Amino acid sequence: MEQSISYEPVSMPRIGDAAPEFNAVTTQGPIHFPNDYKGHWVILFSHPADFTPVCTSEFMTFATMEPQFEAVNCKLVGLSIDGLYSHIAWLRTIKEKIDYKGMKNVEVNFPLIEDITMEVAKRYGMIQPGESSTKAVRAVFFIDPQGTIRTIIYYPLSLGRNFDELLRVVIALQTADNFDVALPADWRPGDDVIVPPAGSCGVAKERVETKSDLTCHDWFFCTKPLSEDKVMHAIKNK
Ligand code: BEZ
Repeated sequence: MEQSISYEPVSMPRIGDAAPEFNAVTTQGPIHFPNDYKGHWVILFSHPADFTPVCTSEFMTFATMEPQFEAVNCKLVGLSIDGLYSHIAWLRTIKEKIDYKGMKNVEVNFPLIEDITMEVAKRYGMIQPGESSTKAVRAVFFIDPQGTIRTIIYYPLSLGRNFDELLRVVIALQTADNFDVALPADWRPGDDVIVPPAGSCGVAKERVETKSDLTCHDWFFCTKPLSEDKVMHAIKNK
């Protein structure tokens, strides 16, 4: 028998939109989002529920990698449809009891929003009723230092995120901005980057015919080297 799902009309933020504002209670005190994070990149992410295994593995991984995100000027903010005391109890359990893949005694120092009313989750399109109408999916919003949403990734309840990919996205977004380039499939710092497409027939001809540090696969697809040092130096000196 087909399950009937009721969909409330929602307006989901999109890439390029200003991050919707909200005030919230968190495990690190009250926050005013995104104003408190102006000048920083921020990952706002949701998880389905406290005291669940996939979420626990994710929090341990994210907390362990927090210094790597800090190093690229990126703050982390979590959220679930749970209350503050549940969050506190869960984070205490993670620190005191959980030993997973070499991670133990892990302290989660980034804020975790209590969103028992689902107000924030609904504004950010984190409730997707086909998946669950009571739990947030694993949403990831990458927000730039001006408060603009730059990337959105959603995962279902059953799949833990790839945190190396989340870090790669933060570095790639900053590199695209810092060097006015685009990043090809599977790009990692140190790999060649894509230069903006030729905007005139003259430039297209020059790209293909003139010797330079560009490698042109065709007039519309040219790459150039960009060292990992330059990528990281630009991020750290921004
Ligand atoms: C988990 O984090 O393990 C989980 C949460 C909600 C549904 C399924 C799995």
